[in-house]
Amino acid sequence: MKHLLSITDLGADGIAEVLRVTDSFVEVSGRSIPKVPTLRGKTVVSLFYEESTRTRLSFETAAKRLSADTMTFAVNSSSAKKGESLRDTVETIEAMGIDAVVVRHASAGVPWQVAGWVDASVVNAGDGWHEHPTQALLDCYTIRQHRPSFEGLRIAIVGDVKHSRVARSDVLAFTALGAEVTLVAPPTLLPASLAGWPVEVSDDLDTVLPKSDVVYLLRIQRERQQEALLPSLREYTARFGLTRRRARLVAEGALVMHPGPMNRGVEIAAEVAALPNSVITKQVANGVAVRMAVLFLLLGSGGSLAA
Ligand code: NCD
Repeated sequence: MKHLLSITDLGADGIAEVLRVTDSFVEVSGRSIPKVPTLRGKTVVSLFYEESTRTRLSFETAAKRLSADTMTFAVNSSSAKKGESLRDTVETIEAMGIDAVVVRHASAGVPWQVAGWVDASVVNAGDGWHEHPTQALLDCYTIRQHRPSFEGLRIAIVGDVKHSRVARSDVLAFTALGAEVTLVAPPTLLPASLAGWPVEVSDDLDTVLPKSDVVYLLRIQRERQQEALLPSLREYTARFGLTRRRARLVAEGALVMHPGPMNRGVEIAAEVAALPNSVITKQVANGVAVRMAVLFLLLGSGGSLAA
């Protein structure tokens, strides 16, 4: 495989392969010098048209730990500000000789367009509301560190599903591996149609919590909500937030997850994010190793995804 654009490109076998390769990069990340020469001579560019903290830094750290050269395209200080088209920008960058482009853009489908214009490998780092495959892979890896199997695992994804590319990629990945997913949200924060989504839906978090092995909270994406979809954030938190009171309903040993950035006090209480069964910082740490695995499988000579 040349690109990673969607979780559907991987299927259950591809996901399993990424998780397996991630194990060895977790080991590398734990060394005193967490670096291997695997991608020496390769160049990885991050092309981020939307803000990001962890995803961009995570990809760049991953590329550096594989000894690749990295370039960052910062939209605000580039010719995109002067009106250069996406295509011209991409072709200019490619002319410099690159092996992979990591793309984030506010419009769904942009990574597919870029893949049509360049010879380099393209990794989707988030396209609009559509997909965020490496987030789903690091989420799978984090869950698998705590649970031997996804088969029959009950995962609740709570909150702003409508605007969440994380939710779309997670549903595809979790269900491909055999988990049962329940979306918990007010109807205004669900996609207009759930046709084809292999999920259950509920608007009653208190009932779903005790039955869930994993509680995955989504950020309320206020910047993407054009209309008033919520009466108020306070009412949202009262019904759908993982408050301190509600955290008592979480089953013993169940994992609490969030992709970040967190709105503390809205979808999750600060104290709850710090509880021992919260694996939110582990998700971030695993992100680097998972992205090393993805870059290795796309660009390295050893992986079968590189075929
Ligand atoms: C997410 C994103 O930008 O898609 N963050 C991330 O990559 N960890 C989720 C979000 O912004 O809510």
